[in-house]
Amino acid sequence: MEFTDVIESRTSTRTYRGKEVEDDKIEYVLECARLAPSWANRQCWRFIVVRDKEKIKALSKTSIVNRWLRKVPIIIVACGDPTSSGVNNNIDYFAVDVAIAMEHIILAATDIGLGSCWIAAFDEKKVKEVLEIPNRIRVVALTPLGYPAQKSGMSDKTIKLFARSKKRKNLNEIVRYEKW
Ligand SMILES: Cc1cc2nc3c(=O)[nH]c(=O)nc-3n(C[C@H](O)[C@H](O)[C@H](O)COP(=O)(O)O)c2cc1C
Repeated sequence: MEFTDVIESRTSTRTYRGKEVEDDKIEYVLECARLAPSWANRQCWRFIVVRDKEKIKALSKTSIVNRWLRKVPIIIVACGDPTSSGVNNNIDYFAVDVAIAMEHIILAATDIGLGSCWIAAFDEKKVKEVLEIPNRIRVVALTPLGYPAQKSGMSDKTIKLFARSKKRKNLNEIVRYEKW
């Protein structure tokens, strides 16, 4: 796809077909994450690919609003090791590092016809329990991966309506030139 088409067609996908995602596609999106920039190139991110149905079900229960995750084919859990990143101006850069890499995954997935959805509403402690993640590691985000269904399900439609998901501010509301 052209880059602009990737940006424009990316959307949060919450309804998936049952079709399995090929291993080479998973590897491709992870490779795109691997190439992301990071604090002092420390690459503090770690990703867990979850395909086990019982674990996916358990992850879906770590959030009240994201129960729809129980039906997705794959979840990628994006973690960061804060000891491998830095802090500047009170900003924890491990979260930034992981967010950049996660967006690489999301855009790469879009490019090859896979759906995804940034997930932040989860109970980190419970996610860590399900996946046996060590204490020092932080869970920054989750995304499902899979082939989007032709028709959106109920939770997808409701969230999209509630979040007015295709509405964006105009450039003149978010950009200033030369000073605040
Ligand atoms: C930091 C962040 C957290 C989000 N958390 C959730 C979430 O927990 N559950 C969910 O269904 N969508 C979540 N979203 C998706 C947003 O609702 C979605 O990106 C927004 O409504 C715009 O819609 P679009 O992605 O389809 O363009 C999250 C997005 C971001 C960037």
